[in-house]
Amino acid sequence: MRIALLYNLAENAPQPDPNAPHDALYELDHPGNVAAYAEALRAGGHEVFPMEGDTGLVSRLKDLNVDLCYNTCEGFRGDAREAQVPALLEMLGVPYTGSKVMTLALTLDKAMTKRILAYYGLPTPAFQEFFSADDPIEARLAGRYPLFAKPNSEGTGKGISEKSIVRNESELRAQVAYLLNSYHESVLVEQYIEGNDVTVGLVGNWPDLHIFPISMLANELYEDTGVPVYGSALKVDQADAYKYHCPAPLPAELADELRRLTVETMRVTETLDFARVDFRLDRHDNNRPYILEINSLPGITPISDLTLMAQANGWTHADLVYSVLEAAMRRMGLQLDLPARIMRQEYSWVPARSNRR
Ligand SMILES: Nc1ncnc2c1ncn2[C@@H]1O[C@H](COP(=O)(O)OP(=O)(O)OP(=O)(O)O)[C@@H](O)[C@H]1O
Ligand SMILES: [Mg+2]
Repeated sequence: MRIALLYNLAENAPQPDPNAPHDALYELDHPGNVAAYAEALRAGGHEVFPMEGDTGLVSRLKDLNVDLCYNTCEGFRGDAREAQVPALLEMLGVPYTGSKVMTLALTLDKAMTKRILAYYGLPTPAFQEFFSADDPIEARLAGRYPLFAKPNSEGTGKGISEKSIVRNESELRAQVAYLLNSYHESVLVEQYIEGNDVTVGLVGNWPDLHIFPISMLANELYEDTGVPVYGSALKVDQADAYKYHCPAPLPAELADELRRLTVETMRVTETLDFARVDFRLDRHDNNRPYILEINSLPGITPISDLTLMAQANGWTHADLVYSVLEAAMRRMGLQLDLPARIMRQEYSWVPARSNRR
């Protein structure tokens, strides 16, 4: 196949304003990672054309006659920036890997996603979306400190630090004001869940899913760094200090429930091909799991959480990158020359809804 590998590099981003927070470009990619994705795809015998997914994409794709795009584009700006390249590819009629426009627009917006999770009775912390720092505090959060404040539509822990934990109304209003001013988008304020960070990753599409071993942040990490949250400092600035357990030492019943919640979240958001769902376990309620978010375009760099989980499963980074292509091709009914790696997994539980795809 002829595959266009689409990326957004930090070095190609429009200049952020000089007062932008230090983590403004943390979602964007780097040339070494793109080289690794390209190598993985070429190893499958494909012709790969790496290119920036920006406003020049239409002219770059013109006359190239690609069979498919491998999409890793986070987008440079806008509330639905992860959906922009897929929207363009839909207009051009070029197939692409990963989730479609509606899902990527939805899941970049954490509050909207939580409204859908709540509709399906899936557990997610109580929340309120703030559009200004003096919005009245709604009854479901009033007096329930500590609360947690984060930008509504970011990833890679942007805008998340120890200051996200707010213990009274003046801290809350100050942090909401800071986030509104720095990230220029609404602020999500949630009930603070004290406990372990857990993440569950998978590739494939129902019912051909491969769920990786569950990963859990090591408690030492919070103790060593003195920061009890997995924000941009731990994800990027101090990435070398990362400590985690994979597979997580969790009781079988809880692990099964986390997998069930992950698959349900993938289904209700119509996420395709690969995903990672982030949870916190409530230490004060028997490790009850709460869904923080779904990453419908999860990072797949050589050190991303999804890669570490795949490696704990005996896969290489290249296996993971390639498996996303395989999942997309199977979903679209395209021929696979290589033996399928994605195995059907047997579950002890029954899905609530039938597959719409
Ligand atoms: N309601 C909450 N209660 C406690 N901790 C939270 C809460 N929300 C977020 N956190 C902390 O912040 C971390 C990052 O949160 P979240 O996954 O929402 O951010 P993100 O930037 O989208 O992450 P990603 O890198 O996965 O894109 C969590 O892993 C957790 O440590
Ligand atoms: Mg997350």
